Amino acid sequence: MKIEFYKHNISQADIANAVEVMNSLFLTTGETVEEFERRFSQYLGLKYTVGVTSCTAALHLSLLAYGIGPGDEVITTPMTFIATANSIIHAGATPVFIDVEPDTANINANLIESAITSGTKAILPVHLHGQMCDMKKIRQIADRYHLIIIEDAAHAIEASRDGIRPGELCDAACFSFYATKNITSGEGGAVSTNNEEIAEKLKKLRLHGMSKGAAERYSKRYEHWDMEMLGWKYNMSNIQAALLLSQLGRIEQNWQRREEICRMYEDAFRSNAHISLPLVLPSSKSARHLFTVQVHPEKRDKVLWQLQERGIGVAVNYRSIHLLSYYRKTFAYKRGMFPIAEKIGDSTITLPLYPKLTDKEVQYVIQTVKEVTARHTSA
Ligand SMILES: Cc1ncc(COP(=O)(O)O)c(C=O)c1O
Repeated sequence: MKIEFYKHNISQADIANAVEVMNSLFLTTGETVEEFERRFSQYLGLKYTVGVTSCTAALHLSLLAYGIGPGDEVITTPMTFIATANSIIHAGATPVFIDVEPDTANINANLIESAITSGTKAILPVHLHGQMCDMKKIRQIADRYHLIIIEDAAHAIEASRDGIRPGELCDAACFSFYATKNITSGEGGAVSTNNEEIAEKLKKLRLHGMSKGAAERYSKRYEHWDMEMLGWKYNMSNIQAALLLSQLGRIEQNWQRREEICRMYEDAFRSNAHISLPLVLPSSKSARHLFTVQVHPEKRDKVLWQLQERGIGVAVNYRSIHLLSYYRKTFAYKRGMFPIAEKIGDSTITLPLYPKLTDKEVQYVIQTVKEVTARHTSA
C-alpha cells in the first residue's frame, strides 16, 4: 500500500471558482480577495482580515505594523517551523526562545516572565499542530508588561481553547494557506485582527506602501496614488482567494473527518508502551492539522525510514529550531538550552492526516506503526 503524507482536498467546484476568476478581467487583489477577507473574518468572529501571499509574510507584516524592529526582542518557541522566528529577524528584531510544555509541546507560558527584558516588545506564541496555547495566561502577562501578542495560527484556523479562538485575545493572528494546510491556495496567508488602524496599515504594507491598490486605481476614473511607507509585495491574488472561498464552506466538515481519523489513531496508540502521544486538553478543540506520535529518540529515525519503506508518507514537525546551523551560529544557541523542545524534536514523527484518507488506509498506518515501533524498541 502507498499512503501519501498529504493529499489536498481541492474539489472540482473549488477549481471552477478559480476558473471563473481566471475568465474575468481582474486576477490580482480585488473583489474576490475582499470577499474572502470578509468571510474569513466572519468565520473567526474577528473584524478584519488582510490577505497576503504566505503566513511568513503575515507574521513579518504584523510585526512591522506594530512597530517592532531593530533593538526589539520577541519571545517565541523553538518548537515550530522556521518561518515563525525568521519573520522576527526579517522585521529586524531578535527572537528569544523559551522552552515548551512537555505534554502539549506549546510554548510554556510559565516561562515567559523570566525571559522579559527592557527590550521585549512582543510575544509570538504558535498553536502547534492545531492546539491553541494558553492565551488567557499569555494575555495577562502581555497586559502586565505592555507587550504586543502576534499569534502564529498557521495550524489552528478551526481551533478553540477555554472558549477562546485564534485572534480573540491577541493583537494580530497569522494564518497559512500553504499546500498542506487545512484550506489551501498552494501558497497564501492572512492576518486577522480587531484593530482597524492596523488592518489599514497592513493593506498598505502588503503592497509597497501604496495608498491605493490596483482595484481602486483601475476600476473607476483613474486616480493617482502615493507611496506612504516602505512596504513589501505580499498581496493575495483573486485566484488564490477564489480557491480559498469555496473551501471555507467545507472547513468544519473536513475538520470532522480529521477529528475522526485522529481519534482512531489515539484509540489505537493510547496504551501502547512504545508510543507516546501529545495531550489534547479537555477544554481544547484542536484544529487537528498534524497528528504526531513520539517514540524513543534513539529509534526515531529508524522508525521513520521503515514507515517510508512500508509505503507510509511521514514527516517531522519539528526538530527544535534553535539547533539549526543558522540559529546556532547567529545566536549561540546550543543543545541543552531547551531540553523539552529538544526531546520532543528528537522523538516526534508526523503521520498522514487529511480528509481523503480512508479508514482502510488509517488501519494500515496503525498496524504498521505498531509493528515497526515494537520491533525497533526491543532491538
Ligand atoms: C507553525 C508555522 N508557522 C508559519 C508557517 C509559514 O507558513 P507559510 O508557508 O504560509 O509562509 C508554517 C508553514 O508551514 C508553519 O507550520
